Amino acid sequence: MDLSAIRVQEDRLRQDLLDLSRYGEDPSGGLRRTALSDADLQARLWFQERMRQAGLRVREDAAANLIGRLDPTAGSPDIPCVATGSHIDAVLNGGKFDGALGICGGLEALRAIQESRLPIPCPFELLVFTDEEGGHFAGTFGSRAMFNLLTEGEIYRSKGAGRRSLAQSLQRIGKDPGRIGQAVRSPSEFRSFLELHIEQGPVLYSMGIPIGIVEGIVFLDRHLIHVAGKAGHAGTTPMHLRDDALVKAARIITEVHETILSAGPDIVGTIGELKVHPGAFNIIPGNVEMTLDLRSMKEDTLADVRDSIRKVVHRVDNARLETILSKGGVSMAPEIMQAVEHSCRQRGVRFHRMGSGAGHDAMTFPTLGIPTGMIFIPCAEGKSHCPDEEIRWEDAVLGAQILADTMMRIASQS
Ligand code: HGY
Ligand code: MN
Ligand code: MN
Repeated sequence: MDLSAIRVQEDRLRQDLLDLSRYGEDPSGGLRRTALSDADLQARLWFQERMRQAGLRVREDAAANLIGRLDPTAGSPDIPCVATGSHIDAVLNGGKFDGALGICGGLEALRAIQESRLPIPCPFELLVFTDEEGGHFAGTFGSRAMFNLLTEGEIYRSKGAGRRSLAQSLQRIGKDPGRIGQAVRSPSEFRSFLELHIEQGPVLYSMGIPIGIVEGIVFLDRHLIHVAGKAGHAGTTPMHLRDDALVKAARIITEVHETILSAGPDIVGTIGELKVHPGAFNIIPGNVEMTLDLRSMKEDTLADVRDSIRKVVHRVDNARLETILSKGGVSMAPEIMQAVEHSCRQRGVRFHRMGSGAGHDAMTFPTLGIPTGMIFIPCAEGKSHCPDEEIRWEDAVLGAQILADTMMRIASQS
């Protein structure tokens, strides 16, 4: 199939990425654009307008996902669509390209497909998922809401006292959290899902290869560790009468770290957030809330470490481990990987098949039997989730080009 008429434009893609990076730009570097924050809401409004200018019909669903649809078949909902997408929210102090590359690259791919004048055989969709990073709670919220995969009461939960729940954030933008079920779609609406993303690791950059064809995504656990002690006066309470929650949490942190290290190189774990309550100079910490992120490509390794950590936590008085989500461990569809590889070969682009240690909304689709693929491009020195996240524009263009070609290739298959 001759797809040479599909030509992604570097200047448009670069401008969109630079314009998007202005939303939540922190003068000290990095982005402050957590899900449904003011910066995120402004970025969403801008991106919706860019989708409309590109000829997409745009709607926002009950979970605040943005759905841009290119449907030359005059709105026939029964023809499954070829979808792409990613997220617009960023981690705290995050980089400009995590998520952004997937939505801006997807938009440029759909512009290039239309400009090619090639016949469009089925609807295309560009999806912008809400709260992929888990700023409120467990993460990949929007894609899981789209397929009815939220856990019971999840939207009313937050990661700790004083933190906004998704229900509160949805209400804040005028949505009724009780209607979250209206976001649910049938898997049969989707022929495939493809996500373009930066690798967020060093492999492609160190190999000097511009395209990664993702084979599978890591098994990923998210836990909360609650530690209760007794708040008290920092000056008048003798040490032997204290029940200091932070001292107990420190012991847990050290033992959790040792447990993960002793399990070998196939697992990583991070205690990324820690909140001390009440949290003052002169108050003995009464409670500590911590987040624990565990990942492995090997399900049994993850299960063993999870059990060991549960024991570590239970050995400490009034401490408990709460699992809020277990996800990932999904394989990409062979036929989609084959189509990506075909696109690379046709464009003479070097590629490397690899796994993803990062989680993505692309983890959600395979669990519903929707053929899914991911296309990676390198990021400088593998840095991500930090202000130093950088890409080369030529790699971004190649990623969007391979995405466009592959979407059209899949759409044209009978
Ligand atoms: O956490 C992750 O792996 C992704 O960047 N959300
Ligand atoms: Mn991320
Ligand atoms: Mn991401």
